[in-house]
Amino acid sequence: MRKKIVVGNWKMNNTVAESVELATEIAEKVGSGIIGCEVGIAPTFLALNEVGKVIEWSDILLTAQDCHYENDGAFTGEVSASMLAAAGCDFVILGHSERRQYFGDTSAIVNRKVKKALEEGLRVILCVGETLQERESGVTESVITGQVVEGLDGVSDISNLVIAYEPVWAIGTGKTATSAQADEVHASIRATVAGIYGAKAAEHLRIQYGGSVKPSNAVELFSMPNIDGGLIGGASLNVDDFMAIVNAAC
Ligand code: PGA
Repeated sequence: MRKKIVVGNWKMNNTVAESVELATEIAEKVGSGIIGCEVGIAPTFLALNEVGKVIEWSDILLTAQDCHYENDGAFTGEVSASMLAAAGCDFVILGHSERRQYFGDTSAIVNRKVKKALEEGLRVILCVGETLQERESGVTESVITGQVVEGLDGVSDISNLVIAYEPVWAIGTGKTATSAQADEVHASIRATVAGIYGAKAAEHLRIQYGGSVKPSNAVELFSMPNIDGGLIGGASLNVDDFMAIVNAAC
């Protein structure tokens, strides 16, 4: 039985003070000693330290939204995986479609980041997803398979990895993939992973769905056999909505 995992991706929202306030409220609600699922929040880099302090006593997993693939050096504006690990991060989100779309993160770059983050002891959420044009031209499966295979090239152990399937056309648009559409892609990701790492590793892999998950659709999405939780954007900025989604998974 796979433990469901719900992570709030706050993206470029909230000042440090606002992040601390939201994190404090979520920590009070999530508390400690949860067993049925895992819950994480991903504030901006700037807020990681302060948020880390207020959620430390709780079960919430401190998550970063990205990292660089080198440890240190002349990379203005970047933050390394080792810095995130030192700041107490549990997880890092890599290959988010917004990174791929606006910041030039190719699958090859994402792959380097994945390897570095795992090497530094972070757990990784690897995001994959097709655009609307790709879905409409019937290439969803090949696009997703390509992103999974390239993203994991040279990764020998996936026990610290979670994959998030996030159709680009569903992110922040209010359009959600139907639970059947999502489950179909999740099943195909699991089959791809089974082909590389074997059936047992694939069976253990958690695959989150992301893209306009809301309290109103979370229960149905999370009831699908291959959907193991969610990566939540917009709805994670509201405590009540985020907690309703967490409760749907837990
Ligand atoms: P959304 O974002 O829930 O606002 O659609 C999801 C994501 O980008 O992780």
